[in-house]
Amino acid sequence: MQTLYMDYAATTPVDPAVAEKMMQYLTSDGCFANPASRAHMLGWFAEQAVEEARLTVAKSIGCDLREIVWTSGATESNNLALKGIAETRKAQGRHIVTSAIEHKAVLDTCSWLETQGFEVSYLKPNAQGLISVEQVKAALRDDTILASFMWINNELGSINPIAEIGAVLQEQGVVFHVDAAQAGGKVAMDLTALPVDLVSFSAHKFYGPKGIGALYVRRDPALKVAAQMHGGGHERGMRSGTLPTHQIVGMAEALRIATDRLDDDFQHLTQIRRQFWQGVSTLDQIAVNGDLERGYPGILNLCFAGVDGESLLMALKNVAVSTGSACNSASVDPSYVLSGIGLSRDKALGSLRFSWGRFTTENEIEQAVASVKHAVAALRG
Ligand SMILES: Cc1ncc(COP(=O)(O)O)c(C=O)c1O
Repeated sequence: MQTLYMDYAATTPVDPAVAEKMMQYLTSDGCFANPASRAHMLGWFAEQAVEEARLTVAKSIGCDLREIVWTSGATESNNLALKGIAETRKAQGRHIVTSAIEHKAVLDTCSWLETQGFEVSYLKPNAQGLISVEQVKAALRDDTILASFMWINNELGSINPIAEIGAVLQEQGVVFHVDAAQAGGKVAMDLTALPVDLVSFSAHKFYGPKGIGALYVRRDPALKVAAQMHGGGHERGMRSGTLPTHQIVGMAEALRIATDRLDDDFQHLTQIRRQFWQGVSTLDQIAVNGDLERGYPGILNLCFAGVDGESLLMALKNVAVSTGSACNSASVDPSYVLSGIGLSRDKALGSLRFSWGRFTTENEIEQAVASVKHAVAALRG
């Protein structure tokens, strides 16, 4: 039985063109040398590949290539941003503002910072999963040094008003970190023009390889981020470690393709979501968690009242979906994101996240709709 992959928010398959390009940077007949090896030409070629990739990424998100720091993914980028700023700014204040429905890579980092003497305010989102400018304004204090909000929520697809929030933070001199793990390669970005200071990216969310990401660090005005990984002083001292040329080249190629296809992919996903919703919305007691109109079309979180999400997951043997964030899939607790937007425990436990991507077909949606309807009817029956 073919599995219908509807868990693109957890990870995407690598684009075949990206995988092919990466192969050229691995084996002895390719560009495999250490990009930090200055003593020979093979090292220079690898360094050139890394710098070309840096330029490609910078162009795709509208920034200077010196503002890109390679990391292992958004978890590391989030850690580096939050801990790195907390460390350099602690003399100015120890208050941080974030939301209750950020990814664990932000929330757990904030919890750790609390053990180090920082105070964190966790703003409560509205029922659609959004943080408002007014809430942010009200939370700021004289000792607030940093705020962190995600661009697109990984469970709901809700899109925060990043530009508006950033304008308020900039005015108050508060450093603004944005977790764009779900937004990179999905929505248009011009970071130089946007009032943001630090932005996290992860390649495996946009058809690149796992294990590579980046942190955008604003240069004007220059921002000092304390290194969290010590060693050879790579990445202008912010992140030591031998650069994985094949991963970096893969990330850049994936982002280049995603940026070229931005509108096509968005339209495709809008059509896919519409088809799926039209199909399943005829079921009784089904509701959208989040915002069907304004949310990112690649994600649809649905509540099937009276149905246990885990049982539905089991019944949907041919559909790969998630009951929440994949990173928490071992837990039987309701998703903290769904609880965070005010869903009851039962409703949160009766919800599933469907997420689609570039390779999802109308035929797959047709099959998935039939499977969902059949499984829900069987469980309710
Ligand atoms: C919003 C968000 N932030 C951070 C991460 C972590 O990214 P990575 O897998 O690259 O560490 C994810 C991945 O699930 C995510 O969705």
